[in-house]
Amino acid sequence: MSYLFPNYQRKDIQWVKGEKSTLTDQKGQNYLDFTSGIGVMNLGYNDSELNQVLAEQAAQLWHAPNLYESQLQEKTAEQLAKGKDYVAYFCNSGAEANEAAIKLARKATGRSKILSFTNSFHGRTYGAMSATGQTSIQEGFHPLVPDFDYLPFNDDSSLVQQIDQQTAAVLLELVQGEGGVIPADQQWVKKIEQLCHENGALLIIDEIQTGIGRTGTFYAYEQYQIEPDIFTLAKGLGNGFPVGAMLGKSALAEAFGPGSHGSTFGGNNLAMQVASKVVDRINTPNFLLDVQKKGDRLSKELHQLAEKSSLVKEVRGKGLMLGIELIDQETLIWAMDQLKIEGLITLKAGQTVLRLLPPLIITEEEITQAVEQLEKVLCKEQIND
Ligand SMILES: Cc1ncc(COP(=O)(O)O)c(C=O)c1O
Repeated sequence: MSYLFPNYQRKDIQWVKGEKSTLTDQKGQNYLDFTSGIGVMNLGYNDSELNQVLAEQAAQLWHAPNLYESQLQEKTAEQLAKGKDYVAYFCNSGAEANEAAIKLARKATGRSKILSFTNSFHGRTYGAMSATGQTSIQEGFHPLVPDFDYLPFNDDSSLVQQIDQQTAAVLLELVQGEGGVIPADQQWVKKIEQLCHENGALLIIDEIQTGIGRTGTFYAYEQYQIEPDIFTLAKGLGNGFPVGAMLGKSALAEAFGPGSHGSTFGGNNLAMQVASKVVDRINTPNFLLDVQKKGDRLSKELHQLAEKSSLVKEVRGKGLMLGIELIDQETLIWAMDQLKIEGLITLKAGQTVLRLLPPLIITEEEITQAVEQLEKVLCKEQIND
């Protein structure tokens, strides 16, 4: 018997070692990892520089409570603001970052209505789950936090009626990740921003999966010519060390005064050292250009593959966040198993999408290898041959 709650559907593999983009299982078998631990290991496994900063900080001071000043938090917050007028709150996960964003939006506006989108994913805590536009994730957990409403994604029709003077915030992912790797349309996002401004509502961008270089810019919102009032981060920020962050315009700072919100571990010294180094490394023009180039190449080759495959409906995404929509759910499960046998680890998104989130340090040779593995599986004539 297992001593664990069965809340995850676990595969019969155990990872015991990681090196750059390669994972090794308990039998010594190597796999190319196109999941990055669900969008986390952007700098890959066993990175010597990150190992070193973590070890040095561990030898100095692991934890200090948030009752004292923290130069480490100040430094990381300044890096994340990227010269713009944002202040940061640090926490330990994506759900916590969104929870903070929802609380800040309600407190700062004095309004309660939060709008998010069907198919979205924002986390599993009550506020974040209530914002998540998927009934399957909310099932059995009612009553939810009140005053959350879901609008159709990439659809203009109801925006004007729904975003009004009672709206505290609109919360969205710029590429829906768990929901099926669905990029938001530029004009639609601009319209949401404009309606938020007109109605005094805040625009919250969930960058938990799209941020930290994943889509080819440091933040995905930089590709949309918008300036969110609040945005949230986690996953890639700590490259595997648990850390989350919420950034908000400094005009909102007053609403989160002393005693309003907090976390014992948030902004922990170990987490801040790692996050600061991750941002240093990823937020450079060369690194981000390389992500764009590799993403463009992978996307192009996947589109070519799609033309040859009767199992692929569509290829979409941004940067190194790509999805291959397959013809049905059964095919997806079959394809992931076959790819695993070939030595490529992939993710599912929605019911039918094969999601690819390779480490951002993936090499050109590894992309070639992955495309060959994908071609071998997806361009087979029959599912069962
Ligand atoms: C867009 C988005 N928001 C929020 C979350 C929740 O993050 P966490 O699992 O760290 O709570 C996720 C996790 O997959 C996510 O993809």
